[in-house]
Amino acid sequence: MTRIELVEGDITHEHVDAIVNAANATLLGGGGVDGAIHRRGGETILDACRDLRRERYPEGLPVGEAVATTAGDLPARWVIHTVGPVYRRERDPASLLARCHLACLRVADELGAATVAFPAISTGAYGYPVREAAAVAIDAVQDAETKVDEVRFVLFGREAYRAFDEALETG
Ligand code: APR
Repeated sequence: MTRIELVEGDITHEHVDAIVNAANATLLGGGGVDGAIHRRGGETILDACRDLRRERYPEGLPVGEAVATTAGDLPARWVIHTVGPVYRRERDPASLLARCHLACLRVADELGAATVAFPAISTGAYGYPVREAAAVAIDAVQDAETKVDEVRFVLFGREAYRAFDEALETG
């Protein structure tokens, strides 16, 4: 059974095997978590993302999928990039958000990552209400078949932390 921890803070400070990035399909950076990860992780992450675009994802990374790169200068071994659903754009955002978490855990298992830090995917620029997202994220991780020992949700701010804490209580 995977242990779930909640942390309030900046995911780029987490010492874990893999840090999940709430990316966009281009994999070429952006704001929010994506911006923070590329800023602190450095150019090697972007170089690896450019290679992925050229070699595997010429059309970009589809929503709900995940792919790993080096973590560059971050205190982690890998960054697992995933693209969450834009809440208003999808008919069934919950299933896509759940799929993101499962895809990240599958990549983590392929890497042999024992500890994985997740941000609150899609709850920023992509407009997913954080309480709804928290319930989907916690359920997806709790139901996942994975070898990951610890999933750490790293929440940026009190409201998000409380949303995940409540979802964990009632999960
Ligand atoms: N550490 C942890 N969480 C963070 C950090 C950080 N350093 N920075 C932001 N967050 C939180 C936000 O507060 C929000 O709760 O991460 C959550 C996800 O917000 P976004 O980063 O905006 O990601 P998302 O909603 O999935 O939108 C993705 O935004 O940054 C662009 O390139 C990205 O186009 C993509 C889109």
